[in-house]
Amino acid sequence: MAETFYRKILCIGAGYVGGPTMAVIANQCPEYKVTVVDVNQARIDAWNSSSLPIYEPGLKERVERVRGRNLFFSTAVDEHIAEADIIFVAVNTPTKTFGEGAGKAADLQFLEKTARRIKENSTTDKIVVEKSTLPVRSAEALTTILHSGRNSVRFEVLSNPEFMAEGTAIQDMEHPDRVLIGSMDTPTGLAARDELIRLYSKWVPRERIITTNLWSSELSKLVANAFLAQRISSINSIAALCETTEADVQEVARAVGKDSRIGPKFLNAGVGFGGSCFRKDILNLVYLCEHFQLNEVARFWEQVIAINDYQVDRFIRRVLRSQFTTLVGKKVAVFGFAFKPDTGDTRDAPAIPICRRLLAEKAHLTITDPHAIDSARRDLEGLEGLGGQLSFAADPYEAARGAHAILLITEWKQFLDLDYEKIFDSMEQPASLFDGRNHLDHQALFDIGFNVHPLGKPSLVHI
Ligand code: NAD
Ligand code: UGA
Repeated sequence: MAETFYRKILCIGAGYVGGPTMAVIANQCPEYKVTVVDVNQARIDAWNSSSLPIYEPGLKERVERVRGRNLFFSTAVDEHIAEADIIFVAVNTPTKTFGEGAGKAADLQFLEKTARRIKENSTTDKIVVEKSTLPVRSAEALTTILHSGRNSVRFEVLSNPEFMAEGTAIQDMEHPDRVLIGSMDTPTGLAARDELIRLYSKWVPRERIITTNLWSSELSKLVANAFLAQRISSINSIAALCETTEADVQEVARAVGKDSRIGPKFLNAGVGFGGSCFRKDILNLVYLCEHFQLNEVARFWEQVIAINDYQVDRFIRRVLRSQFTTLVGKKVAVFGFAFKPDTGDTRDAPAIPICRRLLAEKAHLTITDPHAIDSARRDLEGLEGLGGQLSFAADPYEAARGAHAILLITEWKQFLDLDYEKIFDSMEQPASLFDGRNHLDHQALFDIGFNVHPLGKPSLVHI
């Protein structure tokens, strides 16, 4: 059966990127055999079960449609490297926490281990595709490792960064704004590039498949994330000014975003950006600039993160001000913990530093989230030691009962449909609601009786 496949694709790393990307490729390209491997047995078991390791709208249906047909999940890394024609590398590249570059540089140990394993288990020529987000010129290191020693196998390294966002991963992959492929400008490099173009052309219009040299492709991924995060910090910095001048940040964003040169997207002010990548990739960019002694450039991008941290700080100070500067023993309901809606992912979620700060004020937190309670529990483990108390509730009504304040941190649509009159009646008075994402109808909440504190606009407070 296996020999009837046109090509064998392997993806190393069965995470948020590897799993969904390969599910889409397997669905779009039945003539390709797609295998996803990982060293994490529990993760692979979950991919092979009815309870997938990550939540993404549309993912389960796509996995179930092709799993066992041309999509396979396995821990047999070596065996699948040996048979693959094209190997995508989608391992994690977190910020280094130790040694040189700690706190900024990308930790490339998983990439290097993967490269060595590919080299050791290859007996036929292969295309190796960087899917992970990497520092510019990583392909050089990868090529050096792959071709080291006495191996006569030829590897062609391509860069094909992933631009999908969590919560919309499937939609983004099935209808991408662009697919970016970087290659060496050599006959073998261009041939490998064409092989990847052939794959993506199965469902992506050809004009959306962009080709560049390897370094431009690697750098474009970091720059895309830096630009997106920079827009959020730009509007968040203006939110601070709005709060002191009675301007309304949503009105400003609308007016500014109408300019077609600026555009309306990514101008939602909030408690700050989270997720596994924006902070990590900007820190990586800062580190690269410092490495090349481009210190002014490094300082410029560092400010995007500084404003993001400032946004959390401002939010907490606003909560404290409205609570007569004390939260000791007060119940505070936290609505939403995931770093954005439609995902259970809490990596670098703004809710984490917010809860830490509230616990340090000795507040009693009750956290509710449709998909992220288990992660929240892990993220906040041990933090009660700061002086506060912590509990979790699947039901937002229960979370809010007896609370002095609700803090909306993630704009889940489930929070739109709640009966806020019922919630108000169950709370301590005066009942406050801090809308960290400008998600709810502020006037309606004020009319119910809440003191409402939107983000980047004046508070609505009953005297
Ligand atoms: P993840 O942590 O969810 O998954 C990475 C997986 O790689 C893990 O399951 C881990 O066990 C596995 N792994 C690590 N070393 C391995 C090895 N030697 N052999 C086999 N498996 C190994 O990470 P992710 O969120 O999927 O991100 C992967 C890469 O993609 C990162 O570079 C990230 O910056 C980038 N990226 C992520 C997103 C996103 O939304 N999460 C979007 C675009 C790009
Ligand atoms: C982001 C990018 O959007 C993807 O293109 C990229 O592939 C990915 O990072 C990555 O490299 O990992 P993601 O982090 O999944 O995707 O989600 P986003 O929709 O970008 O949101 C990131 C954070 O910014 C969230 O916390 C969100 O609440 C916040 N955000 C977003 C705002 O505060 N305001 C906005 O206007 C938009």
